[in-house]
Amino acid sequence: MSDRTCDVVVVGAGPTGLSAARTLQAAGKDVVVLEARDRVGGRTWTDHIEGQMYEIGGQWISPDQSALLDLVEELGKETYQRHREGDSVYIAPDGTRTVYNGDMFPVGESTQAEMERLIAQLDELAARIGATAPWEAEDAVELDSVSFHHWLRNQSDDELACANIGMFIAGGMLTKPATAFSALQAILMAASAGSFSHLVDDHFILDRRVVGGMQSVSEQMAAELGEGVVHLNSPVRTIGWTEDSVTVGSDAMTVSAASVIVAVPPNLYSHISYTPHLPRLQQIFHQHQSMGLVIKVHATYPTPFWREDGLCGTGFGAGQLVQEVYDNTNHGEERGTLVGFISDVNADAMFALDEDTRKQRILESLADFLGAQALEPEVFYLSDFGAEEWTRGAYATSYDLGGLHRWGRFQNDPVGPIHFASSDIAAHGYQHVDGAIRIGQDTANKILST
Ligand code: FDA
Repeated sequence: MSDRTCDVVVVGAGPTGLSAARTLQAAGKDVVVLEARDRVGGRTWTDHIEGQMYEIGGQWISPDQSALLDLVEELGKETYQRHREGDSVYIAPDGTRTVYNGDMFPVGESTQAEMERLIAQLDELAARIGATAPWEAEDAVELDSVSFHHWLRNQSDDELACANIGMFIAGGMLTKPATAFSALQAILMAASAGSFSHLVDDHFILDRRVVGGMQSVSEQMAAELGEGVVHLNSPVRTIGWTEDSVTVGSDAMTVSAASVIVAVPPNLYSHISYTPHLPRLQQIFHQHQSMGLVIKVHATYPTPFWREDGLCGTGFGAGQLVQEVYDNTNHGEERGTLVGFISDVNADAMFALDEDTRKQRILESLADFLGAQALEPEVFYLSDFGAEEWTRGAYATSYDLGGLHRWGRFQNDPVGPIHFASSDIAAHGYQHVDGAIRIGQDTANKILST
Protein backbone atom coordinates (compact mmCIF):
# COMPACT_ATOMS: atom_id res chain seq x y z
CA MET A 1 0.00 0.00 0.00
CA SER A 2 1.48 3.35 -0.99
CA ASP A 3 0.92 6.59 0.85
CA ARG A 4 1.33 8.48 -2.37
CA THR A 5 1.71 7.99 -6.12
CA CYS A 6 3.50 10.37 -8.45
CA ASP A 7 5.45 10.38 -11.73
CA VAL A 8 9.00 10.36 -10.38
CA VAL A 9 10.42 9.82 -6.89
CA VAL A 10 13.74 11.46 -6.06
CA VAL A 11 15.85 9.98 -3.25
CA GLY A 12 17.98 12.71 -1.68
CA ALA A 13 17.44 16.48 -1.43
CA GLY A 14 21.01 17.53 -2.20
CA PRO A 15 21.74 19.82 -5.17
CA THR A 16 21.44 16.86 -7.59
CA GLY A 17 18.05 15.63 -6.36
CA LEU A 18 16.59 19.11 -6.10
CA SER A 19 17.76 20.24 -9.53
CA ALA A 20 16.33 17.03 -11.01
CA ALA A 21 13.01 17.62 -9.22
CA ARG A 22 12.97 21.25 -10.37
CA THR A 23 13.52 20.25 -14.02
CA LEU A 24 10.86 17.51 -13.85
CA GLN A 25 8.31 19.75 -12.17
CA ALA A 26 8.89 22.53 -14.70
CA ALA A 27 8.01 19.98 -17.40
CA GLY A 28 4.72 19.22 -15.64
CA LYS A 29 5.69 16.06 -13.76
CA ASP A 30 4.40 15.24 -10.30
CA VAL A 31 7.51 14.67 -8.14
CA VAL A 32 8.14 13.54 -4.56
CA VAL A 33 11.56 14.04 -2.95
CA LEU A 34 12.46 11.85 0.03
CA GLU A 35 15.35 13.12 2.18
CA ALA A 36 16.94 11.21 5.05
CA ARG A 37 18.19 14.21 6.99
CA ASP A 38 16.18 16.88 8.77
CA ARG A 39 17.41 19.44 6.25
CA VAL A 40 18.00 19.81 2.51
CA GLY A 41 21.37 20.53 0.87
CA GLY A 42 23.29 17.30 1.53
CA ARG A 43 27.00 18.05 1.40
CA THR A 44 26.21 21.79 1.23
CA TRP A 45 25.34 22.97 4.70
CA THR A 46 25.43 26.52 6.04
CA ASP A 47 25.04 26.74 9.79
CA HIS A 48 25.81 28.93 12.78
CA ILE A 49 28.30 27.76 15.39
CA GLU A 50 28.39 29.94 18.52
CA GLY A 51 26.76 32.67 16.43
CA GLN A 52 29.29 32.45 13.59
CA MET A 53 28.10 31.45 10.12
CA TYR A 54 30.12 28.63 8.60
CA GLU A 55 29.99 26.80 5.31
CA ILE A 56 30.27 23.32 6.80
CA GLY A 57 30.15 21.72 3.35
CA GLY A 58 30.61 22.90 -0.26
CA GLN A 59 30.93 26.63 -0.84
CA TRP A 60 33.17 27.79 -3.71
CA ILE A 61 32.23 28.39 -7.35
CA SER A 62 34.73 28.70 -10.20
CA PRO A 63 34.10 30.81 -13.33
CA ASP A 64 33.54 27.77 -15.60
CA GLN A 65 30.78 26.36 -13.37
CA SER A 66 28.08 27.84 -15.53
CA ALA A 67 25.25 25.49 -14.56
CA LEU A 68 25.55 26.57 -10.93
CA LEU A 69 26.19 30.23 -11.79
CA ASP A 70 23.09 30.26 -14.03
CA LEU A 71 20.99 28.65 -11.29
CA VAL A 72 22.26 31.11 -8.68
CA GLU A 73 21.26 33.96 -10.98
CA GLU A 74 17.87 32.37 -11.75
CA LEU A 75 17.20 32.13 -8.01
CA GLY A 76 18.06 35.83 -7.64
CA LYS A 77 21.06 35.17 -5.40
CA GLU A 78 24.26 37.16 -5.24
CA THR A 79 27.84 35.96 -5.19
CA TYR A 80 31.04 37.56 -3.92
CA GLN A 81 34.74 37.01 -4.48
CA ARG A 82 37.02 35.39 -1.95
CA HIS A 83 39.45 37.87 -0.38
CA ARG A 84 42.74 37.46 -2.20
CA GLU A 85 44.76 40.69 -1.89
CA GLY A 86 48.20 40.18 -0.40
CA ASP A 87 50.96 37.59 -0.33
CA SER A 88 50.63 33.84 0.13
CA VAL A 89 52.70 31.55 2.35
CA TYR A 90 54.46 28.34 1.32
CA ILE A 91 55.92 25.89 3.83
CA ALA A 92 58.51 23.49 2.41
CA PRO A 93 58.77 19.89 3.67
CA ASP A 94 61.71 20.91 5.92
CA GLY A 95 59.46 23.50 7.58
CA THR A 96 60.96 26.57 5.88
CA ARG A 97 58.29 29.27 5.58
CA THR A 98 58.37 31.61 2.57
CA VAL A 99 56.07 34.51 1.76
CA TYR A 100 55.49 34.80 -1.99
CA ASN A 101 53.35 36.36 -4.65
CA GLY A 102 52.17 34.88 -7.91
CA ASP A 103 51.05 31.48 -9.09
CA MET A 104 54.16 29.39 -8.58
CA PHE A 105 55.40 28.06 -5.23
CA PRO A 106 58.75 29.60 -4.17
CA VAL A 107 60.78 26.46 -4.75
CA GLY A 108 64.19 26.14 -6.42
CA GLU A 109 64.48 26.96 -10.11
CA SER A 110 64.76 23.37 -11.28
CA THR A 111 61.78 22.22 -9.13
CA GLN A 112 59.78 25.14 -10.48
CA ALA A 113 60.62 24.11 -14.04
CA GLU A 114 59.73 20.52 -13.24
CA MET A 115 56.38 21.58 -11.74
CA GLU A 116 55.64 23.66 -14.83
CA ARG A 117 56.51 20.70 -17.06
CA LEU A 118 54.21 18.35 -15.08
CA ILE A 119 51.37 20.88 -15.13
CA ALA A 120 51.74 21.25 -18.91
CA GLN A 121 51.76 17.46 -19.32
CA LEU A 122 48.62 17.08 -17.17
CA ASP A 123 46.92 19.92 -19.04
CA GLU A 124 47.61 18.15 -22.32
CA LEU A 125 46.30 14.82 -21.00
CA ALA A 126 43.17 16.47 -19.56
CA ALA A 127 42.49 18.24 -22.87
CA ARG A 128 42.98 15.04 -24.88
CA ILE A 129 41.12 12.63 -22.58
CA GLY A 130 38.33 14.92 -21.36
CA ALA A 131 35.80 14.43 -18.56
CA THR A 132 32.94 12.81 -20.45
CA ALA A 133 34.35 9.36 -21.24
CA PRO A 134 37.94 9.07 -19.96
CA TRP A 135 37.64 5.28 -20.17
CA GLU A 136 37.61 5.55 -23.96
CA ALA A 137 41.10 7.03 -24.23
CA GLU A 138 43.56 4.75 -26.03
CA ASP A 139 45.83 4.76 -22.97
CA ALA A 140 42.97 4.51 -20.44
CA VAL A 141 43.97 1.05 -19.18
CA GLU A 142 47.60 2.06 -18.80
CA LEU A 143 46.76 5.31 -16.96
CA ASP A 144 44.18 3.58 -14.76
CA SER A 145 46.60 0.82 -13.72
CA VAL A 146 49.14 3.11 -12.07
CA SER A 147 48.59 5.22 -8.97
CA PHE A 148 48.86 8.97 -9.42
CA HIS A 149 51.75 8.90 -6.92
CA HIS A 150 53.74 6.44 -9.01
CA TRP A 151 52.74 7.99 -12.32
CA LEU A 152 54.20 11.33 -11.14
CA ARG A 153 57.42 9.68 -10.04
CA ASN A 154 57.68 7.90 -13.39
CA GLN A 155 57.60 11.34 -15.05
CA SER A 156 60.03 13.10 -12.76
CA ASP A 157 62.71 12.31 -10.19
CA ASP A 158 62.18 15.67 -8.48
CA GLU A 159 60.42 14.49 -5.30
CA LEU A 160 59.34 17.98 -4.21
CA ALA A 161 57.79 18.73 -7.61
CA CYS A 162 55.87 15.42 -7.45
CA ALA A 163 54.68 16.05 -3.87
CA ASN A 164 53.52 19.58 -4.69
CA ILE A 165 51.68 18.52 -7.86
CA GLY A 166 50.21 15.46 -6.13
CA MET A 167 48.76 17.63 -3.36
CA PHE A 168 46.42 19.49 -5.71
CA ILE A 169 44.55 16.31 -6.58
CA ALA A 170 45.20 13.99 -3.64
CA GLY A 171 44.83 16.12 -0.49
CA GLY A 172 43.21 18.96 -2.41
CA MET A 173 40.44 17.22 -4.35
CA LEU A 174 39.97 13.45 -4.08
CA THR A 175 41.07 13.54 -0.41
CA LYS A 176 42.73 10.15 -0.63
CA PRO A 177 46.47 9.43 -0.61
CA ALA A 178 47.85 9.67 -4.18
CA THR A 179 48.73 5.96 -3.93
CA ALA A 180 45.02 5.08 -3.64
CA PHE A 181 43.70 6.31 -7.01
CA SER A 182 44.90 6.14 -10.58
CA ALA A 183 46.48 8.68 -12.90
CA LEU A 184 43.32 8.38 -15.06
CA GLN A 185 41.16 9.38 -12.07
CA ALA A 186 43.44 12.40 -11.51
CA ILE A 187 43.14 13.36 -15.18
CA LEU A 188 39.33 13.11 -14.96
CA MET A 189 39.44 15.45 -11.94
CA ALA A 190 41.54 17.97 -13.90
CA ALA A 191 39.45 17.66 -17.10
CA SER A 192 36.21 18.13 -15.16
CA ALA A 193 37.52 21.49 -13.96
CA GLY A 194 38.62 22.52 -17.47
CA SER A 195 42.35 21.84 -16.98
CA PHE A 196 44.95 20.91 -14.39
CA SER A 197 46.11 24.55 -14.44
CA HIS A 198 42.70 25.51 -13.06
CA LEU A 199 43.22 23.23 -10.06
CA VAL A 200 46.54 24.82 -9.14
CA ASP A 201 45.11 28.32 -9.55
CA ASP A 202 43.26 29.08 -6.31
CA HIS A 203 42.03 32.35 -7.84
CA PHE A 204 40.13 30.25 -10.39
CA ILE A 205 39.00 27.16 -8.51
CA LEU A 206 38.06 29.01 -5.30
CA ASP A 207 36.72 32.13 -6.95
CA ARG A 208 33.28 33.03 -5.59
CA ARG A 209 30.83 32.26 -2.79
CA VAL A 210 27.08 32.66 -2.46
CA VAL A 211 25.86 35.48 -0.21
CA GLY A 212 23.91 33.75 2.56
CA GLY A 213 25.63 30.43 1.94
CA MET A 214 25.63 27.62 -0.60
CA GLN A 215 22.95 25.63 1.23
CA SER A 216 20.51 28.45 0.49
CA VAL A 217 20.59 27.38 -3.18
CA SER A 218 19.09 24.02 -2.18
CA GLU A 219 16.75 25.60 0.37
CA GLN A 220 15.32 27.91 -2.26
CA MET A 221 14.96 25.13 -4.84
CA ALA A 222 13.09 23.06 -2.22
CA ALA A 223 10.84 25.99 -1.27
CA GLU A 224 10.01 26.68 -4.92
CA LEU A 225 8.96 23.05 -5.43
CA GLY A 226 6.06 23.88 -3.13
CA GLU A 227 4.25 22.28 -0.21
CA GLY A 228 4.26 18.53 0.13
CA VAL A 229 7.00 17.81 -2.42
CA VAL A 230 10.11 17.47 -0.24
CA HIS A 231 9.79 15.16 2.75
CA LEU A 232 12.51 15.43 5.40
CA ASN A 233 13.38 12.72 7.95
CA SER A 234 12.46 10.15 5.31
CA PRO A 235 15.44 7.82 4.79
CA VAL A 236 14.72 5.48 1.90
CA ARG A 237 15.33 1.85 2.88
CA THR A 238 13.76 -0.13 0.03
CA ILE A 239 13.12 0.16 -3.69
CA GLY A 240 10.87 -2.46 -5.26
CA TRP A 241 10.84 -2.32 -9.05
CA THR A 242 9.53 -3.78 -12.28
CA GLU A 243 10.53 -2.65 -15.79
CA ASP A 244 8.16 0.33 -15.62
CA SER A 245 7.32 1.02 -11.98
CA VAL A 246 8.90 1.57 -8.58
CA THR A 247 7.71 1.44 -5.00
CA VAL A 248 10.01 3.43 -2.77
CA GLY A 249 9.83 2.78 0.96
CA SER A 250 11.12 5.34 3.46
CA ASP A 251 10.73 5.54 7.24
CA ALA A 252 8.01 8.15 6.76
CA MET A 253 6.09 7.04 3.69
CA THR A 254 5.88 4.72 0.69
CA VAL A 255 5.66 6.25 -2.78
CA SER A 256 4.79 4.54 -6.08
CA ALA A 257 5.91 6.03 -9.37
CA ALA A 258 7.03 5.24 -12.90
CA SER A 259 10.68 5.87 -12.07
CA VAL A 260 13.10 6.88 -9.32
CA ILE A 261 16.27 8.96 -9.27
CA VAL A 262 18.67 7.77 -6.59
CA ALA A 263 20.42 11.11 -6.01
CA VAL A 264 22.78 10.00 -3.23
CA PRO A 265 26.54 9.50 -3.40
CA PRO A 266 27.54 6.07 -4.85
CA ASN A 267 28.94 4.79 -1.53
CA LEU A 268 25.35 4.86 -0.21
CA TYR A 269 23.64 2.99 -3.09
CA SER A 270 24.00 -0.35 -1.35
CA HIS A 271 22.46 0.93 1.87
CA ILE A 272 19.14 0.71 0.08
CA SER A 273 17.63 -2.75 -0.40
CA TYR A 274 16.41 -3.41 -3.97
CA THR A 275 13.77 -6.01 -4.86
CA PRO A 276 14.66 -7.70 -7.13
CA HIS A 277 18.31 -7.05 -6.31
CA LEU A 278 20.39 -5.03 -8.76
CA PRO A 279 22.20 -6.86 -11.60
CA ARG A 280 25.64 -8.39 -11.00
CA LEU A 281 27.42 -5.48 -12.70
CA GLN A 282 25.99 -2.83 -10.35
CA GLN A 283 26.36 -5.05 -7.29
CA ILE A 284 30.06 -5.35 -8.12
CA PHE A 285 31.04 -1.85 -9.21
CA HIS A 286 29.07 0.02 -6.57
CA GLN A 287 31.57 -1.48 -4.10
CA HIS A 288 34.49 0.20 -5.87
CA GLN A 289 33.42 3.83 -5.46
CA SER A 290 34.48 5.11 -2.07
CA MET A 291 34.52 8.42 -0.24
CA GLY A 292 37.67 10.35 0.54
CA LEU A 293 38.15 11.89 3.97
CA VAL A 294 38.86 15.51 4.80
CA ILE A 295 38.42 17.70 7.85
CA LYS A 296 37.38 21.24 6.99
CA VAL A 297 38.77 23.51 9.72
CA HIS A 298 37.02 26.79 10.60
CA ALA A 299 38.63 29.38 12.89
CA THR A 300 37.24 32.87 13.48
CA TYR A 301 39.16 35.85 14.95
CA PRO A 302 38.15 39.37 16.03
CA THR A 303 39.67 40.68 12.78
CA PRO A 304 41.35 39.17 9.71
CA PHE A 305 44.72 39.90 11.37
CA TRP A 306 46.79 38.35 8.56
CA ARG A 307 45.73 41.14 6.20
CA GLU A 308 47.60 43.66 8.41
CA ASP A 309 50.76 41.66 7.73
CA GLY A 310 50.19 41.98 3.99
CA LEU A 311 49.01 38.37 3.71
CA CYS A 312 45.95 37.21 1.80
CA GLY A 313 45.46 34.25 4.13
CA THR A 314 46.38 31.63 1.53
CA GLY A 315 48.95 29.04 2.55
CA PHE A 316 50.16 25.76 1.06
CA GLY A 317 52.36 23.03 2.49
CA ALA A 318 52.25 19.51 1.06
CA GLY A 319 54.01 18.14 4.16
CA GLN A 320 51.97 20.11 6.72
CA LEU A 321 49.07 18.93 8.86
CA VAL A 322 46.83 21.63 7.36
CA GLN A 323 47.83 21.39 3.68
CA GLU A 324 45.89 24.41 2.49
CA VAL A 325 44.54 27.47 4.30
CA TYR A 326 42.48 30.38 2.95
CA ASP A 327 40.77 33.56 4.09
CA ASN A 328 37.13 32.53 4.38
CA THR A 329 35.73 35.72 5.90
CA ASN A 330 32.02 35.93 5.22
CA HIS A 331 30.51 38.67 3.09
CA GLY A 332 30.17 41.91 5.08
CA GLU A 333 31.66 40.58 8.34
CA GLU A 334 34.26 42.36 10.46
CA ARG A 335 35.51 39.21 12.10
CA GLY A 336 38.06 37.26 10.09
CA THR A 337 37.62 33.56 9.35
CA LEU A 338 40.21 31.08 8.15
CA VAL A 339 39.41 27.77 6.54
CA GLY A 340 41.91 24.93 6.31
CA PHE A 341 41.88 21.33 5.12
CA ILE A 342 43.32 18.16 6.66
CA SER A 343 43.14 15.13 4.40
CA ASP A 344 43.16 11.33 4.49
CA VAL A 345 45.86 9.89 6.81
CA ASN A 346 46.37 13.23 8.56
CA ALA A 347 42.62 13.30 9.26
CA ASP A 348 42.85 9.75 10.67
CA ALA A 349 45.63 10.91 12.98
CA MET A 350 43.60 13.91 14.19
CA PHE A 351 40.55 11.80 15.00
CA ALA A 352 42.75 9.53 17.10
CA LEU A 353 43.52 12.47 19.45
CA ASP A 354 41.40 13.86 22.27
CA GLU A 355 39.49 17.04 21.42
CA ASP A 356 41.82 19.52 23.17
CA THR A 357 45.03 18.07 21.75
CA ARG A 358 43.46 17.92 18.29
CA LYS A 359 42.44 21.59 18.46
CA GLN A 360 45.90 22.62 19.71
CA ARG A 361 47.71 20.69 16.93
CA ILE A 362 45.48 22.17 14.24
CA LEU A 363 45.81 25.74 15.52
CA GLU A 364 49.60 25.33 15.68
CA SER A 365 49.53 24.31 12.03
CA LEU A 366 47.49 27.42 11.14
CA ALA A 367 49.95 29.53 13.18
CA ASP A 368 52.89 28.08 11.21
CA PHE A 369 51.36 29.73 8.15
CA LEU A 370 49.92 32.98 9.52
CA GLY A 371 51.53 33.70 12.88
CA ALA A 372 50.85 33.22 16.60
CA GLN A 373 47.54 35.12 16.54
CA ALA A 374 46.08 32.10 14.78
CA LEU A 375 46.38 30.23 18.10
CA GLU A 376 43.56 32.24 19.72
CA PRO A 377 40.34 31.97 17.70
CA GLU A 378 37.01 33.14 19.13
CA VAL A 379 35.22 30.27 17.41
CA PHE A 380 36.72 26.99 16.23
CA TYR A 381 34.87 24.21 14.44
CA LEU A 382 35.67 21.09 12.44
CA SER A 383 33.40 19.81 9.66
CA ASP A 384 33.26 16.05 10.02
CA PHE A 385 31.23 14.51 7.19
CA GLY A 386 32.88 11.15 7.87
CA ALA A 387 30.72 10.91 10.97
CA GLU A 388 27.53 11.74 9.05
CA GLU A 389 25.46 8.64 8.33
CA TRP A 390 24.02 10.09 5.11
CA THR A 391 27.41 10.98 3.59
CA ARG A 392 30.19 8.92 5.29
CA GLY A 393 33.19 10.90 4.05
CA ALA A 394 34.16 14.00 2.08
CA TYR A 395 34.27 15.58 -0.37
CA ALA A 396 33.06 12.88 -2.73
CA THR A 397 33.63 9.38 -4.10
CA SER A 398 36.17 8.13 -6.60
CA TYR A 399 37.09 4.69 -7.92
CA ASP A 400 39.84 2.60 -6.48
CA LEU A 401 42.80 1.79 -8.71
CA GLY A 402 41.66 0.40 -12.06
CA GLY A 403 37.95 0.98 -11.41
CA LEU A 404 37.38 3.99 -13.64
CA HIS A 405 38.24 2.38 -16.99
CA ARG A 406 36.55 -0.89 -15.97
CA TRP A 407 33.22 0.45 -14.73
CA GLY A 408 33.02 4.21 -15.42
CA ARG A 409 31.18 3.61 -18.72
CA PHE A 410 28.29 1.96 -16.82
CA GLN A 411 27.92 4.40 -13.93
CA ASN A 412 25.28 6.59 -15.58
CA ASP A 413 23.19 3.72 -16.97
CA PRO A 414 19.76 3.25 -15.41
CA VAL A 415 18.64 -0.17 -14.18
CA GLY A 416 15.07 -0.45 -15.47
CA PRO A 417 13.24 2.55 -13.94
CA ILE A 418 16.08 3.26 -11.43
CA HIS A 419 18.34 6.18 -12.38
CA PHE A 420 21.51 7.09 -10.50
CA ALA A 421 22.75 10.67 -10.23
CA SER A 422 25.15 12.68 -8.07
CA SER A 423 28.10 15.04 -8.45
CA ASP A 424 30.28 11.96 -7.98
CA ILE A 425 29.34 10.58 -11.40
CA ALA A 426 29.07 13.91 -13.22
CA ALA A 427 31.53 14.74 -15.99
CA HIS A 428 32.01 18.53 -16.03
CA GLY A 429 31.84 19.69 -12.43
CA TYR A 430 32.70 16.21 -11.12
CA GLN A 431 32.68 16.24 -7.29
CA HIS A 432 31.33 19.81 -7.27
CA VAL A 433 27.93 21.44 -6.80
CA ASP A 434 28.04 22.49 -10.46
CA GLY A 435 28.32 18.82 -11.49
CA ALA A 436 25.40 18.01 -9.19
CA ILE A 437 23.20 20.61 -10.89
CA ARG A 438 24.23 19.39 -14.34
CA ILE A 439 23.64 15.70 -13.67
CA GLY A 440 20.35 16.44 -11.88
CA GLN A 441 19.08 18.33 -14.92
CA ASP A 442 20.48 15.77 -17.40
CA THR A 443 18.93 12.81 -15.58
CA ALA A 444 15.56 14.57 -15.42
CA ASN A 445 15.78 15.34 -19.15
CA LYS A 446 16.61 11.69 -19.88
CA ILE A 447 13.45 10.63 -18.05
CA LEU A 448 11.42 13.30 -19.85
CA SER A 449 12.65 12.12 -23.25
CA THR A 450 11.53 8.50 -22.73
P1 FDA B 1 24.69 15.28 -1.62
O1 FDA B 1 25.47 14.34 -0.81
O2 FDA B 1 24.95 16.74 -1.46
O3 FDA B 1 23.15 15.01 -1.42
C1 FDA B 1 22.65 13.71 -1.29
C2 FDA B 1 21.43 13.73 -0.38
O4 FDA B 1 20.90 12.41 -0.28
C3 FDA B 1 21.78 14.14 1.06
O5 FDA B 1 20.93 15.19 1.46
C4 FDA B 1 21.55 12.87 1.88
O6 FDA B 1 21.11 13.15 3.19
C5 FDA B 1 20.49 12.17 1.06
N1 FDA B 1 20.43 10.72 1.26
C6 FDA B 1 21.44 9.83 1.32
N2 FDA B 1 20.95 8.57 1.47
C7 FDA B 1 19.61 8.69 1.50
C8 FDA B 1 18.54 7.74 1.63
N3 FDA B 1 18.76 6.44 1.73
N4 FDA B 1 17.27 8.21 1.65
C9 FDA B 1 17.01 9.54 1.51
N5 FDA B 1 17.99 10.47 1.39
C10 FDA B 1 19.26 10.05 1.37
N6 FDA B 1 31.67 21.48 -3.99
C11 FDA B 1 31.87 22.68 -4.59
O7 FDA B 1 31.36 22.89 -5.69
N7 FDA B 1 32.60 23.65 -3.98
C12 FDA B 1 33.17 23.47 -2.76
O8 FDA B 1 33.79 24.39 -2.20
C13 FDA B 1 33.00 22.21 -2.14
N8 FDA B 1 33.53 21.97 -0.90
C14 FDA B 1 33.11 20.88 -0.16
C15 FDA B 1 33.46 20.77 1.18
C16 FDA B 1 32.99 19.70 1.94
C17 FDA B 1 33.40 19.59 3.39
C18 FDA B 1 32.16 18.73 1.33
C19 FDA B 1 31.64 17.56 2.13
C20 FDA B 1 31.81 18.83 0.00
C21 FDA B 1 32.29 19.91 -0.77
N9 FDA B 1 31.92 20.07 -2.10
C22 FDA B 1 32.20 21.24 -2.75
C23 FDA B 1 31.18 18.99 -2.81
C24 FDA B 1 29.70 19.28 -2.93
O9 FDA B 1 29.15 19.65 -1.69
C25 FDA B 1 29.02 18.03 -3.49
O10 FDA B 1 29.60 17.74 -4.75
C26 FDA B 1 27.50 18.22 -3.68
O11 FDA B 1 26.86 18.57 -2.48
C27 FDA B 1 26.92 16.91 -4.20
O12 FDA B 1 25.53 17.03 -4.34
P2 FDA B 1 24.63 15.73 -4.46
O13 FDA B 1 23.23 16.19 -4.43
O14 FDA B 1 25.10 14.92 -5.60
O15 FDA B 1 24.96 14.87 -3.15
